[in-house]
Amino acid sequence: MQRTNEKLIAVVGATGQQGGAVVRALQASSQFKVRALSRNPDKLRGLADEAVKADLNRLKTLKAAFEGAHGVFLVTNFWEEGTDEIKQATAAVRAAKDAGVKHFVWSTLPDIEAISGGKFHVPHFTGKAKVDRIVNEAGFAHHTFVIAPFYYQVLLGVLAPQKQADGSVGWALPLAPDVRCIHMGDITELGDIVAGALAHPDQAGKGEYLPLVGDFMSFNEIVGTLNRQGHKFSFKQVPKDVFAALFPEAAEAAETFSYFQSHTYLGSDSYDGIALANKIAGRQPTKFSTWAQLNVPVQKLNNTKEII
Ligand SMILES: NC(=O)c1ccc[n+]([C@@H]2O[C@H](COP(=O)([O-])OP(=O)(O)OC[C@H]3O[C@@H](n4cnc5c(N)ncnc54)[C@H](OP(=O)(O)O)[C@@H]3O)[C@@H](O)[C@H]2O)c1
Repeated sequence: MQRTNEKLIAVVGATGQQGGAVVRALQASSQFKVRALSRNPDKLRGLADEAVKADLNRLKTLKAAFEGAHGVFLVTNFWEEGTDEIKQATAAVRAAKDAGVKHFVWSTLPDIEAISGGKFHVPHFTGKAKVDRIVNEAGFAHHTFVIAPFYYQVLLGVLAPQKQADGSVGWALPLAPDVRCIHMGDITELGDIVAGALAHPDQAGKGEYLPLVGDFMSFNEIVGTLNRQGHKFSFKQVPKDVFAALFPEAAEAAETFSYFQSHTYLGSDSYDGIALANKIAGRQPTKFSTWAQLNVPVQKLNNTKEII
């Protein structure tokens, strides 16, 4: 197969959910060669055309990681201890510019401080949003912002249903369950948007914001959907301060739910952005009910005992 005309895309976070999705979508396209990046490239064996070491905390590694690349996909991981997202992203932008990268794709989130007039403090959103200006001003020929949703997968992970005091299995969260406020999606589908943007810089390469949204739901609707599929999950609204003391990241999670309830996940009318993202991806993202049918087997979660 002749592959010399394919553009090389370097993907940060290739071992993770977002970067992994991007690698898979780019590999499925015949337009790109993929350089998967990790601090431990042994984990990448066989995943992409190239596997290269890159550490966002070590600028030198980024130079080699981005050398010769046409495009870069960047995600930072707020939840990893010691991560400074603005510092890491600034280093990545600088290294990409120095390497002559033409198209930079940054996985951002809404600026909660600006949207809420300073009422809500959610660093894992606002910190990413602060990077947008740095990407905008870097002077890449093309740049694109993608916005990851509330992953459906979170309901199988950190927010998996738990055994409640009344014996039921479900959720106890500081969130009004009847407020439709959560823009959600299957994170494995983020790659279609990124690959589409890299393939169509004329349509999405001038700083467009492309959110992945498969569904827009309240928690009552989430629970109702699952229960119609055979589950018996419960939901209880709990006070914010009680929830915030439960586990190390709970305070930030509680503040995030308060923001969702007041402003929604995306924070504004996002109809046009979602429509553009779907057009660029060339598909409609999977609805929650369809995803749940395939990924939330009735027996498995109803046996959940783990307390997170
Ligand atoms: N969960 C949600 O609903 C949600 C919604 C929107 C946004 N987000 C955001 O998603 C981000 C996490 O992305 P994810 O879900 O794809 O995470 P993930 O599956 O946990 O993977 C994290 C990735 O980050 C890479 N990484 C971490 N530190 C690195 C460093 N210093 N240098 C290079 N690579 C580094 C890891 O690579 P190696 O370990 O291989 O080096 C790994 O591939 C977070 O910032 C979070 O705020 C999450």
